Amino acid sequence: MLIVGPPGSGKGTQSERITERLNIVAISTGDIFRANVKGQTPLGLEAKKYMDAGDYVPDSVTNKMVRDRLQQDDVANGFLLDGYPRTLAQVEELASILAADGATLDVVLQLIADDEELVQRLLGRAKELGRSDDDEKVIRHRLELYHTETEAVVAKYAEQGIVVKVDGLGAVDEVTERIMTAIDSLAGSS
Ligand code: AP5
Ligand code: MG
Repeated sequence: MLIVGPPGSGKGTQSERITERLNIVAISTGDIFRANVKGQTPLGLEAKKYMDAGDYVPDSVTNKMVRDRLQQDDVANGFLLDGYPRTLAQVEELASILAADGATLDVVLQLIADDEELVQRLLGRAKELGRSDDDEKVIRHRLELYHTETEAVVAKYAEQGIVVKVDGLGAVDEVTERIMTAIDSLAGSS
């Protein structure tokens, strides 16, 4: 599965809950990058300059990281990718990684939320967590990149009939229930 949505739409929050319920692993490219930044690895040093500016890390770097991660044994039961793919080149890479294992994507879950609401959410998180990219100007740039680059990714998967759109506004529990209902209905219709 994939979870896609603009910055602050609740990808991380919901992916923790969904993966627990479905007993699959969560893989967040943003979290892997942040762990590398914290550990000051070469990958982290490379990624940091893009992340702080709210830009996408180059596809070559991101694709290699995901390819390596998906070779690990714990993905055998299924996985939920949070924040990948974000570009059409990443869509192609993921297709090639999965094809090598005879695997396919079941569901692409898209969280929908209004940009202004998301800016407020992320400014709220900035006060608690101090993520280096939760600055208003950078947040707006991240939102813009989502609209110009990542919505095309969702459109691509929509052609395959595997996208479910879920309203990301409202209480966290309510959003989780909407997601689980949407997943069930897609499973029932195929
Ligand atoms: P990433 O870490 O994926 O950041 P993002 O896409 O900007 O999204 P966030 O993690 O900020 O938000 P979220 O949707 O997970 O929401 P959350 O649950 O935290 O990527 C960071 C950077 O890494 C990118 O900019 C890029 O540089 C790089 N990168 C990552 N993947 C890449 C890729 N594939 N290619 C290239 N570069 C890549 O919730 C947000 C806040 O809202 C929290 O405070 C939460 O508590 C709150 N909240 C959640 N749900 C609700 C709700 N229902 N009501 C009210 N508040 C809520
Ligand atoms: Mg996140």
